[in-house]
Amino acid sequence: MEVVICKTKEQAAKLAADIITAAVEKNPKLVLGLATGSTPVKMYDEMAKAAKKRKISYRAVRSWNLDEYVGLPGTHNQSYRYFMNENLFKKIDIQLKNTHVLNGMAKDPEKECKAYEAAIKKAGGIDIQVLGIGSDGHIAFNEPGTSLKSRTGVVYLTPSTIKDNARLFFGGDMTQVPTKALSMGVGTICEAKKIILLAFGENKQNAIKGCVEGPVSQFCTASALQEHNDAWIFCDEAAAKKLKLRKYYAWRSATKLGIAL
Ligand code: F6R
Repeated sequence: MEVVICKTKEQAAKLAADIITAAVEKNPKLVLGLATGSTPVKMYDEMAKAAKKRKISYRAVRSWNLDEYVGLPGTHNQSYRYFMNENLFKKIDIQLKNTHVLNGMAKDPEKECKAYEAAIKKAGGIDIQVLGIGSDGHIAFNEPGTSLKSRTGVVYLTPSTIKDNARLFFGGDMTQVPTKALSMGVGTICEAKKIILLAFGENKQNAIKGCVEGPVSQFCTASALQEHNDAWIFCDEAAAKKLKLRKYYAWRSATKLGIAL
């Protein structure tokens, strides 16, 4: 696991966007795994800016998103499909038919999840998976107590996630946040060839501590990434503050990336 500790979240977002942009440039048929939430917004912005400036095409890129709320149609302005259209897909030339978000309205959610996994497999697997992290250490919507081998399925949100998501979205109203979601499993996520996790702000300090230096445990599902051989954590100084070896990680990752942080 590499931990890149940046002075600002803007710098982290730009570095992560540069990695994805370069990968699309090299392989126009790249398969991306994408996340929603407040964290990746700036990175998506940077990806769109770079695509425009350097004429990088996403026409043949395919994407699979991590999760979707149960009960929200893609047209709902708090659905993750809507979020992706607004924050990334509209800004690049990706073909909407090549973008996949779990259907939160599926009549048979288990069937929907199985088909989603099969489609990812058919595409050759995810080349780069983008992740955020919940303040309770979740990745996608894999809350504490979820098997680290879990596959895509129906999941139940913790009160702390409902609170976090209400604060950032849903106009602050906890009663509006769905309590269930469809989510890629931890095992599914860990099959991606490369993983880029972004984490910003004090609210993510404990989660990053658990992810990077905690035991590998269901209690912090992001800790499963410790066993992945190409996982990159891009965070700002606030999120990294509780890491014991933060100075070492910062030096090592900057040296590997050939940059000064
Ligand atoms: C979103 C997702 C979640 C978020 C996490 C952090 O698709 O899978 O795991 O990444 O809840 O959310 P923010 O970025 O809003 O703090």
